[in-house]
Amino acid sequence: MTIKLVPLDLNNPDHVDWVYRVRTHPDVATHFFAPAPENLMDHMQFLSNSIQNHERDFFIVTSQDQMKGYCQVIHHLNSYELGFAFHPKWWGKGLGSASCKQLIQLVQDYPERKQITLVVKKENKRALALYRKFGFHIVDEKVNMGQYSMSLAGENLCR
Ligand SMILES: CC(C)(COP(=O)(O)OP(=O)(O)OC[C@H]1O[C@@H](n2cnc3c(N)ncnc32)[C@H](O)[C@@H]1OP(=O)(O)O)[C@@H](O)C(=O)NCCC(=O)NCCS
Repeated sequence: MTIKLVPLDLNNPDHVDWVYRVRTHPDVATHFFAPAPENLMDHMQFLSNSIQNHERDFFIVTSQDQMKGYCQVIHHLNSYELGFAFHPKWWGKGLGSASCKQLIQLVQDYPERKQITLVVKKENKRALALYRKFGFHIVDEKVNMGQYSMSLAGENLCR
């Protein structure tokens, strides 16, 4: 599966609309902890604040020159938290695996050395399978919230 991670361009309405479309799709939104944005304006505001304040990096995932999903890196004090979302019609085709591999490599080249982490709902079997495949393991469970925090094994810390 050949994919490209294209940095999200806030001036490209296709990029902004695509992330909105994927993030608000009910089958995708249910796997996130935070509610989906209520409208495109709120979404745009969230994206621009996150990017301009260097809180998050967003990448559009393309394959065969078509947008298939997006992924993000959230900059925490001591960790980089990864996130992935694809339009449901593209699930189960290897895009998550190809993107996870590329995003880990990309983050390992970031100048600051930090743990690479993920947060996932306990019932999200597909995402759990994907993350385990790439060496993430559960480091914490928030029982009431049905939430697993996952981390890459120590030897895979960001260089
Ligand atoms: C989770 C998600 C990113 C995975 O992407 P994907 O492109 O579907 O993943 P892949 O096709 O690469 O499959 C990854 C692994 O998932 C597992 N998987 C695939 N289809 C599955 C299914 N129907 N049921 C359970 N596990 C499945 C397999 O272990 C697979 O690895 P393998 O093919 O090497 O065996 C994607 O499904 C998605 O966007 N889901 C909605 C948003 C979401 O849940 N994001 C994660 C929030 S933490």
